[in-house]
Amino acid sequence: MLVQTSALSKRFQMGDTTVTALQEVDLTVEENAFCQILGPSGSGKSTLLHLLGGLDRPSGGRIRVDDENIDELDENGLAHFRQQKVGFIFQSYNLITSMTALENVSFPMQFARIPTRERKARAEALLERVGMADRAGHKPGELSGGQQQRVAVARALVNNPRIILADEPTGNLDTASGENIMALLAELRAEGATIIMVTHDTRLKKFATQQVHILDGKLDLSANGTEPK
Ligand SMILES: Nc1ncnc2c1ncn2[C@@H]1O[C@H](COP(=O)(O)OP(=O)(O)OP(=O)(O)O)[C@@H](O)[C@H]1O
Ligand SMILES: [Mg+2]
Repeated sequence: MLVQTSALSKRFQMGDTTVTALQEVDLTVEENAFCQILGPSGSGKSTLLHLLGGLDRPSGGRIRVDDENIDELDENGLAHFRQQKVGFIFQSYNLITSMTALENVSFPMQFARIPTRERKARAEALLERVGMADRAGHKPGELSGGQQQRVAVARALVNNPRIILADEPTGNLDTASGENIMALLAELRAEGATIIMVTHDTRLKKFATQQVHILDGKLDLSANGTEPK
């Protein structure tokens, strides 16, 4: 397996109250899976993705990714892990507003010791793949929401991550763009990536190899099948 959590828990302290976002989650995702995470609003889906990608730390339990216990890594180790292995696609695109689409996509490669010319070529190829080649020189403020989303997808893929974590990546897209992104993710999977995606998009069904249902921070085993229904 590529990802394994055991008794993974996350609590947030809000003044006097503790919000339990995840409770003792045991999740296994096999290498090269296309895992769909489902569950109602507030059930802990985004929290789980953040923990799996090393963006946040658990309150309890273990997370093993690619033979590494990422819960044991220090901040530097986690930053390295994220940069080397994980591509994030979130609902908020987090694009840098002063940079063009091309610069935004190139940006993560700066830390990966890739020569400038190759960076540009790779960024252009990815913008082409997400259908944004003709907007490469535009800044985020000059792009529609869906176009920004597609730039964010290109940026997430630029370091050839082994694991792609996606949180409702087609939520803001029109039908055609959403299908393009789904098809692109399926292609990346065919090339060897493992994809874990939060989405209620029914178009994912034909691609998903695993569905995970979360309810109140717990895996809803009654609804979990290893095969999509
Ligand atoms: N940084 C935080 N501080 C405090 N509470 C948080 C924080 N992040 C999430 N929570 C709480 O944890 C619970 C799970 O949140 P999470 O964002 O994981 O839900 P979700 O399943 O992604 O929901 P949605 O479908 O609406 O995106 C919620 O009750 C939320 O209020
Ligand atoms: Mg969420």
